[in-house]
Amino acid sequence: MTETAQGEKTVEGAKKLFIKTYGCQMNVYDSQRMAEAMGSEGYVLTETAEDADMVLLNTCHIREKAAEKLYSDLGRLKPLKAERPDLKIGVAGCVAQAEGAEIQRRMPLVDLVVGPQAYHRLPKMVREGGGVDTEFPAEDKFEHLPKSPATRRAPTAFLTVQEGCDKFCAFCVVPYTRGAEVSRPVDRILTEARDLVSRGVRDITLLGQNVNGWHGAGADGGDWELGRLIRALAEIDGLDRIRYTTSHPNDMTDDLIEAHGNEAKLMPYLHLPVQSGSDRILKAMNRKHTAEEYLRLIERIKAARPDIVLTSDFIVGFPGETDEDHAATMALVEKVHFGMAYSFKYSPRPGTPAADRPEVDAAVADARLQELQALLTRQQKATQESMVGRELSVLVEKAGRLDGQMIGKSEYLHAVFIENAGDTKVGDLVRVRITRSEANSLGAALIRA
Ligand code: 5AD
Ligand code: SF4
Repeated sequence: MTETAQGEKTVEGAKKLFIKTYGCQMNVYDSQRMAEAMGSEGYVLTETAEDADMVLLNTCHIREKAAEKLYSDLGRLKPLKAERPDLKIGVAGCVAQAEGAEIQRRMPLVDLVVGPQAYHRLPKMVREGGGVDTEFPAEDKFEHLPKSPATRRAPTAFLTVQEGCDKFCAFCVVPYTRGAEVSRPVDRILTEARDLVSRGVRDITLLGQNVNGWHGAGADGGDWELGRLIRALAEIDGLDRIRYTTSHPNDMTDDLIEAHGNEAKLMPYLHLPVQSGSDRILKAMNRKHTAEEYLRLIERIKAARPDIVLTSDFIVGFPGETDEDHAATMALVEKVHFGMAYSFKYSPRPGTPAADRPEVDAAVADARLQELQALLTRQQKATQESMVGRELSVLVEKAGRLDGQMIGKSEYLHAVFIENAGDTKVGDLVRVRITRSEANSLGAALIRA
């Protein structure tokens, strides 16, 4: 017996699908939906490519390194395909969208290429033996995906509410690979959320490339924004935690900030990318806000929810960045104090406005990245250490390696290792006392009622 793509049990001998997911959380969600769609074609998930009848690589195009991973992985699949020519190889996701048929020209072992807006057509493509589909069809792919049977789910889940981006930051491929901003309608989101909760989900992260730009027609006929949607989701019994990612500073509305202050189910955690602390660079990046405006926004968010943990994204070495610009980024980080942040060296992406601008010296960019990461690591450590001694709630996700140990997430999204957790089960929401802080996690003792 094997676990199918949809989670049911089937007999050995079913066709096997191996999916590798690169990049962001939306790709994780998409991979899950594609697995479900292929489940209706009789495919079950498997752990390795060697074992599979079909390999699907769900790719990321955000930086050059992420995109190149696809080609090194395809290279590694060559001997397997030579041995078993009937092995189907598919490329999905943002590299598929950006490069289309070029992927097959460079790597003829690829049978099918499917962009992120066309993956509901994947089962048909597989039946027909392959092809390339990078269209942006008018139909809603989510509505055309085979429905999954009502199997149990893990306690946390992603739910895509918005896709695409109209912001056109000068460095970013997303507006080209994921297309224009599209919001899913309220009723479909609420239906999907209720379905997830009925299957054991207690914590939902709303996903979108520009999720706080989400808006849709509500049941009352009005145009809802994200804060209103969060309040409607919070009314679902059994749903305990709501998060959303990833946001643009210019779409943090008053109502959304207010929700952070008074909606108990909205977790005290916010990922709000700023990219740079220099006004000159922010302008060159087409971010359409200044460092000061970002800082004022942070002040308002902290006023609504003083204990909120803030995280962010940074790019160092953007074309034209000087030592002074970098110092401004360091100063902004000092002022905000982030709980965690991702920082990247600028990677020129074909087709984006910044791609042709003169690059910063690689060694200089490396040194800036190191300096920024050292500061961000210090802030992360301080944030985690501030949790020690506090009583927090943890949603248990899995058993740890040690006897009696369970692992879950706190309100602030820290991984928490609970020792001597007794009869605590996956899916329990428990009270704990934080006892220690490690590099990327916290340790805790259960508070027994
Ligand atoms: N180079 C480096 N980092 C990038 N990001 C997006 N595009 C690029 C690029 N061309 C980073 C941004 C974004 C995160 C998802 O990836 O910081 O917020
Ligand atoms: Fe890319 Fe985000 Fe800018 Fe949109 S807002 S272009 S997704 S960095």
